[in-house]
Amino acid sequence: MPHAERYDLAVIGAGPGGYVAAIRAAQLGMRVACVDREAALGGTCLRIGCIPSKALLDSSELYWQARTRLATHGVAVGEVSLDLPTMLRRKEQVVHGLTTGVAALFKKLRITALQGSARLAGPDRVTIEGPQAGAVRASRILIATGSGPAPLPGFPLDRMRIVSSEEALSFDAPPARLLVIGAGAIGLELGSVWARLGSDVRVVEVMDRLVPGMDPELTRALQRALERQGLSFQLSASARKAVVTAASVDVTIEAEGAATTESFDRVLVAVGRRPFTDGLGLEALGVALDPKGHVRVDDRFQTSVPGVYAIGDVIGGPMLAHKAEDEGIACVEGIAGQAGHVNYAAIPNVVYTWPELAAVGKTEQECQAEGLNVATGTFPFAANGRARAMGERDGLVKFVADARSDRILGIHILGPRASELIAEATLAIEFGASAEDVARTSHAHPTLAEAVREAALAVAKRSIHS
Ligand code: NAI
Repeated sequence: MPHAERYDLAVIGAGPGGYVAAIRAAQLGMRVACVDREAALGGTCLRIGCIPSKALLDSSELYWQARTRLATHGVAVGEVSLDLPTMLRRKEQVVHGLTTGVAALFKKLRITALQGSARLAGPDRVTIEGPQAGAVRASRILIATGSGPAPLPGFPLDRMRIVSSEEALSFDAPPARLLVIGAGAIGLELGSVWARLGSDVRVVEVMDRLVPGMDPELTRALQRALERQGLSFQLSASARKAVVTAASVDVTIEAEGAATTESFDRVLVAVGRRPFTDGLGLEALGVALDPKGHVRVDDRFQTSVPGVYAIGDVIGGPMLAHKAEDEGIACVEGIAGQAGHVNYAAIPNVVYTWPELAAVGKTEQECQAEGLNVATGTFPFAANGRARAMGERDGLVKFVADARSDRILGIHILGPRASELIAEATLAIEFGASAEDVARTSHAHPTLAEAVREAALAVAKRSIHS
């Protein structure tokens, strides 16, 4: 049955890319429908990704701090024990609060939310199967379907023993032995959660270091910090196959030409994600994909079919919620005749471990590979007064600046609250700041942010406290 209205924009996918685009489009006066398979709005990020993982990271951090660190602050507590059902329930409440918040925003802006699986039946027509089956007509269609876990040959997900990030957010008990395949953001964040809650966590990574795209000096320091928390790492190693038995899962891991088989209680496969385009009818409509299966778009996010747009994980680039949001806003502003723009040189990337790892811009290695002549400055948190007051000594801030102009090319932070500190770094790059600009900016004392300023000062070899 056709839905009555004709829309200016039909958004497929209510994740951070899609729902933010829908809101911005409604603000700009468009009549908007947003279709999602799930009843809860917010997509992977809100329902089974960024938000629930952060809820568990924060809860597990408190548990771990209570067990290992409160005594050093002079806070004596009785025996600390884990109430996992309450922790998981709190996580669900956090998710529920945020997804209903998105629904309230939709209501306020008169955005029509439709539940079902969408398919492009034409450049201006979307059919929906599911609870609100039907069809909508829209002058423009925006594909914001995101991504799903990339499969790993030899490790078919059974969602019990061999799981994706989704199941690893809801284990009913900390697995005694957890194998994480992939030392990227998902592997390190969820590996940290379960290690803090008592699991023996092993991480297998095919490359020779953690989070391969990040600065190696920082990722080495992160590895040491995580090892002190009990995680173990097997680098330059590849997980080959798994055999699920009644009691465990036997995994064959290949390293340095030799294969060994070990038993684990659960295996988390976190080897990346792939764009989600199945069943959308893209081929029939002639929407072009790149060889990796991403939807191809031009600089206004328009696909090869006029009137059909795409943003977020489904078009490639960093698979990050805030990148998808920025693209969603730029896309609909472009549709409205405005000059929407995304500055891909200033998109921060954060791994929410403890300490946190955050970066924006280029690494020193990327600059060197491009033949750029750079100057760097580093400053350790061990020399920062606020970090010491908090009991934090791990990590550092690293600036990478153009050697001649002093313009900042990249800022890399490993340390407490790096996820918040990276905002200043991102703003600096967005505004084309030099290291000198940051060095001359007053920073409140005592704060962690002073470490950012000190690293900026260190570019010109005039850091005060190191
Ligand atoms: P990822 O691409 O970040 O990391 C996957 C890791 O697995 C890589 O280090 C890769 O070298 C390794 N790998 C691949 N095949 C392997 C094998 N056979 N054996 C061992 N290691 C192997 O992917 P991840 O962590 O699954 O995350 C997916 C996406 O979601 C990423 O784009 C990530 O940026 C994003 N994400 C971002 C978060 C954040 O911003 N904090 C949190 C979670 C996910």
